[in-house]
Order: sequence, then structure tokens, then C-alpha cells
Amino acid sequence: MAKLLASPLTSLLSVALISFVITAVRSCSPADQTALNAFKSSLTEPNLGIFNTWSEDKDCCKDWYGISCDPDSGRVTDISLRGESEDAIFQKSGRSGYMTGTIDPSVCALTALTSFVLADWKGISGEIPPCVTSLASLRILDLAGNRLTGEIPADIGKLTKLGVLNLAENQMSGEIPASLTSLTELKHLELTENGISGEIPADFGSLKMLSRALLGRNELTGSLPESISGMERLADLDLSRNHIEGPIPEWVGNMKVLSLLNLDCNSLTGPIPGSILSNSGFGVLNLSRNALEGTIPDVFGSTTYFVALDLSYNSLSGRIPDSLSSAKFVGHLDISNNKLCGPIPTGSPFDHLEAASFSDNQCLCGGPLMKTC
Ligand SMILES: *[C@@H]1O[C@H](CO)[C@@H](O)[C@H](O)[C@H]1NC(C)=O
Repeated sequence: MAKLLASPLTSLLSVALISFVITAVRSCSPADQTALNAFKSSLTEPNLGIFNTWSEDKDCCKDWYGISCDPDSGRVTDISLRGESEDAIFQKSGRSGYMTGTIDPSVCALTALTSFVLADWKGISGEIPPCVTSLASLRILDLAGNRLTGEIPADIGKLTKLGVLNLAENQMSGEIPASLTSLTELKHLELTENGISGEIPADFGSLKMLSRALLGRNELTGSLPESISGMERLADLDLSRNHIEGPIPEWVGNMKVLSLLNLDCNSLTGPIPGSILSNSGFGVLNLSRNALEGTIPDVFGSTTYFVALDLSYNSLSGRIPDSLSSAKFVGHLDISNNKLCGPIPTGSPFDHLEAASFSDNQCLCGGPLMKTC
């Protein structure tokens, strides 16, 4: 061994090998490490000690919990810190994640960042630093499940590569910024459970790649913008518990891949368009707690397949349409608290339903109700 090392040729080779290894996996960019230290210093995580792994004598790209880098440049590409996780570090402590503090603007110096996840820590407060919109490579921004306040940065539209924007379950206010609809790569938009007000932007349908729009539990007003009708990838639309008003447009029922539509707890008026009940692609439809009136359109058929159909707490009148008994499947049906009348149809979709599905109507009879027709 000593003899081998002594040989000038092998020494040269090993020097070459070592420097090859060093350049192949670059260690953490010093500027990024400085930025991460500043980011860390405004946060406190008492339960798990994840920041204990962020120590100066370790390489931030290899040993720091939740950090990944580009192996060629040593630049930080991912911050992935979730307060609810199946990681060993969580199981060992037996406690769920909790973190307080604020998001330091130093994170904006991580200009190679593609994914910024700081979610479900329950206690992180303050505003989203406006400079995050300068992170031009960002594809995922997930800050859900904290106590963030303030508004969605007005120039969020600058993040042209953004595919996921999740700010759900925070205390954000203000309106949906006009620039948001220019995010042409956006697939998932989740703003559920905040205090976001104002109208849904009229050009919301410009989000051509969007498949999930979860905007429930906010303070949104106005009506459903017609541009939504052109969203050919929209599968889940949740606008529940807002103040959306006006009639449900007929075009909603003609959307190609829409399968979940929650409009419950709003101020919708007018009749239920037949198109949304005859569209066999809808698996979940919740129109509960609005001011819908008129009869339930008689448009069901053998392709009707509802996991859940909730029309409760409206002012629907007339009979339950007979065609509903020809449905292939209705898992959960709730038409209680309306003004319906007449006999409950018989047939397989009704066999498993309980009286609560039909209670508090004007004069329904038969089926699971105690009242005979
Ligand atoms: C429909 O919405 C109402 C009101 O928000 C809710 O109470 C109900 O559980 C929902 N129905 C289903 C089937 O999820």
C-alpha cells in the first residue's frame, strides 16, 4: 500500500480521482447556505429539531433536512418542509410538526429554487415576502396550513413556470390578483379557508392547464365567470362557503372533465340546469344551502353515477323525478330541507337511503319516510 501511494503515477491518479469526485457532486453554494441560515433564524421549530441538522459543518445539499440541490451547480433547488409527514424524524418524536416565526425575505436569494414547500406547520405567521415572485424557476409554492396574513403578491403572474400554488388554510386577505390568470402552467390552485374577497377574475378561464381550483371557505363574491366554460382540464371546482350569487349557468353541465363541483353555502338563485344533472361525468355535486328553486330536472338515466348528490337546504319544489330511479348509482343523496312533494320513487338507487335524505320537505311520502302516500 505504502509502495503504491509512493508511486508518482498513482499519487497523480488519486489526486485526479479526488478532484473528480469533488466536482461531480458540488457542495452547497456558500451564498445559498448564507440565505438558508437567515431563513432559519426567523423560524422556531421546537418539537422535532429539524434545524439541528442545518449545521455549519455539514453540507447543506447532503445533510440538511428538507434541502435538495442541483448536483452540478450546488445551488439549492428544493425546500421541502412539511409539518405533517411520514418521515422517521416525525415518528421518532411522536409529535406532529409545529413551527412559529415568519418567512424571511432571504429565501428570495435562492434564485435556483424550483420548489418551496413550508406547509402544515400551523404557526408560521406574517406575510409572504413579495420578493418570492422573483424566483423565476419556481414550479411549486406550497405554504398551506399556517397562519399567514396579507395578500397574495400582486405580481404572482411573474412566476411563469408555477404549476402548484397552495396557500390553503391561512389567514390571507385581499383579492385574487389580476396577474394570477397569466400563470399558463398552473395545474393546482388551492386557496381554501382564507379570507380572500372580491370576484373571481373574469379571465379565470385563461388558466388552461388548471385541473384543480379549490377556493372554498373564502369571501368571494360575484357570479361564475363564463370563461370557466373553456377550461378543458378542470376536474375539481370547489367554491363552497363563499358569497357567489346569480344562477348556475347551463354551460357548467357541458364541461368536459369536471367531476367534482362544490357550490354549497353560497347565494345561488334560480333553477338547477338540467345539463349538470345529466352529465354522467359528475361524481360529486354539492349545491346545498343556496336559494335554488324550481323543480329537479327529470334528466337522469342509466349512465347517472353520483358518489354524492347534495341538493339539501334550497327551495326546490315539485316531485322527485322518476328518472332518478333509473340511475346506475347514487351513493349519497340529500334532498332534505326543500319544498318537494309526492311519492319517493322506488328502485335500487333508493334502497339504501335513510329518511334523513328526504326529511323536512313539504309533502314527500313513501320510501323510508314514516308517512304513507
Ligand atoms: C354539502 O355541503 C354542505 C354545506 O357546506 C355540507 O354540510 C355537506 O356535508 C356537503 N355534502 C356532502 C355530501 O359532502
